[in-house]
Amino acid sequence: MARIDLGIIGCGNISHSYLKGAARSELVRVKAVADLRTEAAQAKGVEYGVQAVSVDQMLADPDIQVVLNLTIPLAHAPVSLQVVEAGKHVYSEKPLGSRHAEAEALMLAATAKGIRVGCAPDTFLGAGHQACRRAVDAGRIGRPIAGSAFFATHGVEHWHPNPEFFFKRGGGPVLDMGPYYVTQLVNLLGPVVRVAAQATIGSATRTVSSEPLKGSIIQVEVPTTVNGVLSFANGASVTITTSWDVWRHRRVPFELYGSEGSMLVPDPNFFGGEPMVTSRDGDWTPLNTSVHPFGKPNRRTQSGLHVADYRMVGVLDMAAAIRDHRRHRASGELAMHVLEVLEALERSSIEGRHIMIETPCERPEPLPLGEGEEVFAS
Ligand SMILES: NC(=O)c1ccc[n+]([C@@H]2O[C@H](COP(=O)([O-])OP(=O)(O)OC[C@H]3O[C@@H](n4cnc5c(N)ncnc54)[C@H](O)[C@@H]3O)[C@@H](O)[C@H]2O)c1
Repeated sequence: MARIDLGIIGCGNISHSYLKGAARSELVRVKAVADLRTEAAQAKGVEYGVQAVSVDQMLADPDIQVVLNLTIPLAHAPVSLQVVEAGKHVYSEKPLGSRHAEAEALMLAATAKGIRVGCAPDTFLGAGHQACRRAVDAGRIGRPIAGSAFFATHGVEHWHPNPEFFFKRGGGPVLDMGPYYVTQLVNLLGPVVRVAAQATIGSATRTVSSEPLKGSIIQVEVPTTVNGVLSFANGASVTITTSWDVWRHRRVPFELYGSEGSMLVPDPNFFGGEPMVTSRDGDWTPLNTSVHPFGKPNRRTQSGLHVADYRMVGVLDMAAAIRDHRRHRASGELAMHVLEVLEALERSSIEGRHIMIETPCERPEPLPLGEGEEVFAS
């Protein structure tokens, strides 16, 4: 099959992962990169041997079928809409928009034009998470009843080179990290129907300690700790914490509790990990992840962890789905449901009431067993 030509808008921190992932793939080729900052696009162009162009030039290029939107959250919906209006499929970094209403307008425009929208995260397609999905579907923990999703650090101003956007509208730990947890929860349990939460701003300002902006002060505009409860259509209820106000803790990222046992779900920010289940109150037993693709560690993090990083798999699934005329998994519909849930966490706290979730959503199809990109052929 001829490779699908991609364009990338947004040549910042995360673009490396996508450019590296694309370079390993048989399915796609990055033809051009663009950025508001011409020098950023040129630097990435030179590093990866691709053309640096303007956004307008990219959108006018008839070879480019899919554009990856790796800009900052406030720009996600406007840039994706521009791509859709140019008649190209778009795959956005998360969240799909900084507001649910923006994402809804984007999806309506895409549907009217027959254009596909895809959205990160795609970590739920990793081996650790697909093994959990298979185990839940096989009834290993029985009927899911409850669970706990927990993310807490002391924020991004200690490592990101330009962290301001994380503390403005479209940022915050809920919209930044919540998508990983809620997407995997929907993958495992199905759609959310009701949300309640309490949100707080831990500090009114943040002092950047990373280079090159060390010492600069950021005014915080979004909640930095949110404690919520998600009620699912299947009857399960799961507590969720996302916080950038915690220096240290000893909580696990993710557990589910069912009528017949418990499940330890790996960190949904990564593709791999070691999921485990119990049969009732028996010992923890590892699930076999080796039969699933996208789980072998292939990157070392700054803190020295050896992790599986296959960011791009959602795009590859979308490229294969375009070729095979089937639905793709990391879809705009899924991301819009997740965004409504995340926005509802904040609204619930402001309005002091439960919020009902209205966006419909189906669980994405599980990935077949196998290795590498051939799993997209089935
Ligand atoms: N950095 C990470 O580790 C990471 C991980 C996962 C997801 N993400 C997500 O990826 C997105 C980008 O994050 P990042 O860390 O790369 O940010 P960044 O600030 O490093 O890069 C964003 C780039 O987008 C460009 N840009 C902004 N608005 C634009 C527009 N309208 N048109 C063209 N270019 C525009 C900026 O000039 C910048 O070069 C965010 O949504 C973030 O949540 C980041």
